[in-house]
Amino acid sequence: MVPIPSSGLCAVLLSLALGPMQCAAALAAELSAPSVAVLAGGCANCHGPDGLSSSAIPSLRGQDEARLRARMQDFRAGRAGDATVMTRLMKAYDEAQIVALARWFAAEARP
Ligand code: HEC
Repeated sequence: MVPIPSSGLCAVLLSLALGPMQCAAALAAELSAPSVAVLAGGCANCHGPDGLSSSAIPSLRGQDEARLRARMQDFRAGRAGDATVMTRLMKAYDEAQIVALARWFAAEARP
């Protein structure tokens, strides 16, 4: 995927109807890897270290990126019928953070 530098460009891409994927790439590019790791650390208590859960709470690591993103967006919008804690939790995250978190957890296991 072509790297896209800024959310300003993201808005332009959206206005040109070039699609949400490019926009997602632009948003994710704004969060550096260390800051995403810090965000993702907040999920570890429930989803397990590095997103690999050993409880009834689903693992996030290695799931499809688009599905993770859609799930988080549904939680945040209050559209997920199965949500207990995630609806409230996701309200604290903005779109760029959701995009970055989905990408982070979708990637293969990290060392
Ligand atoms: C307090 C515990 C808790 C924390 C912290 C938490 N989650 Fe969750 N998460 C859950 C539970 C429980 C579910 C199942 C849905 C529900 O009950 O809300 C879930 C479901 C999900 C799902 C859907 C998984 C699937 O396979 O459908 C995603 C994606 C998700 N969480 C992402 C995150 C991310 C990203 C973070 C950190 C920013 C996070 N969660 C932090 C408890 C938590």
